[in-house]
Amino acid sequence: MEKIGILTGGGDCPGLNAVIRAVVRRSHALGYGILGIRNGWAGLIHGDVVPLTEFSIVGILPRGGTILGTSRTNPFKHVEHVQKLKSNWQKYGLDYLVVVGGEDTLGVAHRLCKQEGYPIVGVPKTIDNDLAGTDYTFGFDTAVQIVTEAIDRLHTTAESHKRVMVVEVMGRHSGWIATHSGMAGGADCILVPERKFSLDEVCALIRKRIDRGREFAIVVVAEGAAPDENHQPITKGGHVDEFGHVQLGGVGDWLGRQIEQKTGIETRVTVLGHVQRGGTPTAYDRVLATRFGLRAIELIRERRFGYMASLRGTEIVGVPIEEALGQKLLDPKVFDDASVFFG
Ligand code: F6P
Repeated sequence: MEKIGILTGGGDCPGLNAVIRAVVRRSHALGYGILGIRNGWAGLIHGDVVPLTEFSIVGILPRGGTILGTSRTNPFKHVEHVQKLKSNWQKYGLDYLVVVGGEDTLGVAHRLCKQEGYPIVGVPKTIDNDLAGTDYTFGFDTAVQIVTEAIDRLHTTAESHKRVMVVEVMGRHSGWIATHSGMAGGADCILVPERKFSLDEVCALIRKRIDRGREFAIVVVAEGAAPDENHQPITKGGHVDEFGHVQLGGVGDWLGRQIEQKTGIETRVTVLGHVQRGGTPTAYDRVLATRFGLRAIELIRERRFGYMASLRGTEIVGVPIEEALGQKLLDPKVFDDASVFFG
């Protein structure tokens, strides 16, 4: 019996369990054995694996997170880790591997496949929706729903107190979450990493709104957005992960203080953080994740190694993993549509 391994790496994302379920169900139906690798690439390095049966996936479709665990481990950081990974691949008798991850995790998959000939296929994931090579990633729709609901709630309290509410949302390199949720929630200003912002313009938008007779404002800011005068996203400092990413965060607090100082309007800040990544996936994300998982097994059957499942329009197709390694920045047309409602 041929054996397929599956791992989930990088930041978790609602829909990962739907992918695992689809991969396990389809593999079993086709007569493959399935081995779950725990905690991303770390599981293959350290030999932390678990056989996946029909029983393992009972009830996981609506569950957030990943039953396999995840990590931001980069095997190429240490030569001995690549060696261990290879010997564990042998030891556990893997024939193929499904790698579910974002740019970093898929980057490792690409390298192992292209440089070392390992038969790997990919499934793209990120709540940020900034992976090139696919129109959308699962997890994004769920994050947008969560943020939109938060903005709706902040609206009523902002209105009661006549305050500016700043909402800091995820989005390291791109403002997809900020723009979609800001548009859905009727934000008066949206700040994204793709466009440096001017504090004076933000304050002018708030004043314009007040002059229109509206006594409160909602400002959505992506964590990676940076003001003109600084040019760098605000970080929490300290920890850098194995792929070289620093922890972002703090732009909301900074912005809130500046707005209050410059406009004199009482301002409060809400940082949504990991709430955006937790909990049950939306129906859209469950369907997309399920279709991605099924397509991954088809890619193995077609022997299209080095390919990943991808959404193109309404079709799930196979594209080279390499295509996902570039960034998909926010569509400027979508941002321009959202900005019609600013101020
Ligand atoms: O890549 C997805 C993401 O949620 C980013 O938006 C965010 O910067 C990062 O992960 C947070 O990662 P961590 O869970 O390691 O704090």
